[in-house]
Amino acid sequence: MEQYIVKGGNPLVGEVEIGGAKNAALGILAASVMTSEPVTIENLPDVRDTAVLIQAMESIGTKITRIDRHTVMVNASNIDSMTIDDGYIKKIRASYYMLGSLLGRFGTAQVALPGGCNIGSRPIDQHLKGFRALGAKVEVSRGMISAQTDALVGNHIYMDVVTVGATINVMLAATLAVGKTIIENAAKEPHVVDVANFLNSMGANIKGAGTDVIRIKGVERLHGTTYSIIPDQIEAGTFMFAAAITKGDVMIRNVIPKHLESISAKLIEIGCEIEEFDDCLRVVAPRRLSNTQVKTLPYPGFPTDMQPQIATTLALSEGISIVTESIFENRFKYVGELLRMGANIKVEGNTAIIEGVDGFTGAMISAPDLRAGAALVLAALVADGFTTIDDIKYIERGYEDFPEKMRQLGACIEKVETDRDIQKFKLKVG
Ligand code: EPZ
Repeated sequence: MEQYIVKGGNPLVGEVEIGGAKNAALGILAASVMTSEPVTIENLPDVRDTAVLIQAMESIGTKITRIDRHTVMVNASNIDSMTIDDGYIKKIRASYYMLGSLLGRFGTAQVALPGGCNIGSRPIDQHLKGFRALGAKVEVSRGMISAQTDALVGNHIYMDVVTVGATINVMLAATLAVGKTIIENAAKEPHVVDVANFLNSMGANIKGAGTDVIRIKGVERLHGTTYSIIPDQIEAGTFMFAAAITKGDVMIRNVIPKHLESISAKLIEIGCEIEEFDDCLRVVAPRRLSNTQVKTLPYPGFPTDMQPQIATTLALSEGISIVTESIFENRFKYVGELLRMGANIKVEGNTAIIEGVDGFTGAMISAPDLRAGAALVLAALVADGFTTIDDIKYIERGYEDFPEKMRQLGACIEKVETDRDIQKFKLKVG
């Protein structure tokens, strides 16, 4: 079984390059089938979730040519099926974007109900409500969602909750609807804006992405484009916390500092120094960090995808910290693993009460989901002795070359498969 093995103790020092945003990439890949002309997507992260979506797109006849590791050319001129049901697609959340894109272009789509990280019940009612408001007949049965219409017609849609997925999905379908759509209470995340910018570069007419009201004037057709995906806010944030927890000094390159403001603000509050440049950030953690309170919120609030990383860091900071998760109800599963490493954390409902301890000890732990898995790697980087982390398939869903990038900063981490590999690693690092 593939695992990471880590020997803790090294402060991270050096430079790291951030890749393209996974969650923008998933929306953009799905949107790329909305034209029959070729689309080139640059800065595409080479992670498992994008690979799975590409495979699903290929399964309906999309031709995808990899130009280099981070660039693909998508040709959706010969799509021969509107049904996506391959075994893998159920494992990712973003499969639902193929509903919006296929429904928009062809007026019909059938996609297997989405899976994704088990971080809560994750309903899709707002997606379905949006499609219905645009005039589609939507049914969920036998594990499939089917949507169909003779013509999509623009409408005024109020989202009952702020949802990234439904905002993007309705935006995709509405792009090719007849007339005007207004999405109120829209999500404002950077990846929502990036998908809107991508669609606009294909000839869509979308205004207001990044605010809570998005206005879309339907267009008849979209054309080809070449587009470069924004840097990944969460990968960047994860390395910022990796610098913080290890008392390191890391220059994080290829980022948009504005997207990282809520993360930088918290790091400064607990004692880090942050230097901001045009497209990079330096994080220095000169001493033991202090406690704080944090609540996850939709953008521009503190991201739920950074909650495990900050909680893990606070578990080693001075004093008592409170972390409240307000987006997903099941996102503290990693706490049990941190307890095995010596953390002192009590979870009550959606709140974690964290009493900082002086250190963690290495243990055998498992990644319960993507971001929690990354946070456990951060814990392992500072733990006394060796830690093995199982279920790294979750981490690989969203982090490209995670151990390699950590190693480049001085971390002692390796991906291993067998007990022999583990012994070899232990002998090598002593
Ligand atoms: C996206 O998930 C991301 N996934 C998640 O990334 C991220 O945690 C989340 O947004 C929040 O930022 C992708 O982009 C593929 P939501 P999504 O719809 O779209 C409720 C990661 O680690 N809701 O914004 O599924 C929902 O239950 C991950 O990269 C409804 O009630 O999240 C949640 O409480 C995991 N009805 C809240 O809204 C709906 O129809 C926000 O969910 C849809 C959502």
